[in-house]
Amino acid sequence: MTEVCKEECSTALGPVEKWSLRSGSVSVEIISLGCVIKSIRTPDRSGQSADIVLGYNDLEGYLSNPRYFGAVVGRVANRIAKGRFVVDEKEYKLAINNGPNALHGGLKGFDKAVWTTEAVDNGVKLSHSSPDGDEGYPGKLNASVTYRLEKNTLSVLYHAQTDRTTPINLTNHSYFNLAGQGTPDIYDHEVTISAESYLPVDDTMIPTGEVKPVEKTLFDLRKPVLLCSRLKDFPGPGFDHNFCLCAPGEQPLERKCARVVHPGTGRVLEVSTTQPGVQFYTSNFLDGTLKGKGGAAYSKHSAFCLETQNWPDAVNQAHFPDALLKPGETYKHTTRFTFSVI
Ligand code: BGC
Repeated sequence: MTEVCKEECSTALGPVEKWSLRSGSVSVEIISLGCVIKSIRTPDRSGQSADIVLGYNDLEGYLSNPRYFGAVVGRVANRIAKGRFVVDEKEYKLAINNGPNALHGGLKGFDKAVWTTEAVDNGVKLSHSSPDGDEGYPGKLNASVTYRLEKNTLSVLYHAQTDRTTPINLTNHSYFNLAGQGTPDIYDHEVTISAESYLPVDDTMIPTGEVKPVEKTLFDLRKPVLLCSRLKDFPGPGFDHNFCLCAPGEQPLERKCARVVHPGTGRVLEVSTTQPGVQFYTSNFLDGTLKGKGGAAYSKHSAFCLETQNWPDAVNQAHFPDALLKPGETYKHTTRFTFSVI
């Protein structure tokens, strides 16, 4: 049985709700601003609890949240090349907010909205209505995200409907450090990602279009890999790539996509999803200037993200999985995070 409780907090943006979910020794806090996962506390192998996600002490921190700690990003997570796409023969232009590209839904994406909330069994459902033309996207989109904590699994269900054809790609942008947030790096984490291929990117981080087998590359994470050994050989600042979980057009089935183990504490995170991809990001752009919970200075490689989602720039790459939601259809995806110890 999961305990669910709600608290109302006042912020410069007006009231923001904080929902607390507790199941056995796992507890999760969700806030209505940005649909953010504010904390996840899990025990280590000796029963010692720690918060394993980066973020801010108080809700004010989430008002700007430039690195999207814990947030739901949308309407389209990840990058759209040059911030442009064509739907029904009409060209749409988005704000350019990442080099020459559009990133994570724009200047005021879903991470900046205050979502409405309602209690559901073992969790909370958050809803957000994005008007026609919001950040340049076509159609009014009604989205909801339901977080449920059941035993030691946090499930995240995404739903959306639109009144005009629009690209969509929703994900949660939690930054994990299984040794406990504030620990300086993730080099002692062992990562497995069950992907046979990944998407190489150009120098602006847009997929080149090639779907490349991981075999005999540094992207082969099909067997557990210790991050320090892999990152030291890695060209560039670290992982920030989409791993392909199925072929374009394949029926989305929920599958295990990643497992991360922290041998020191025994904590294990397993991720499963119906999404066709997962962006594995090793916090390459954190540089110690952001001060988070407990005053921690979050530096490069101090966390990892497993952002389950569609392939980046899918709206512009015809051979990638379909990125468009049409009127009358329902966008529906599930991601589950399971916490355990070894
Ligand atoms: C992107 C990174 C970006 C980070 C924070 C990730 O999803 O892939 O390139 O720096 O989000 O914005």
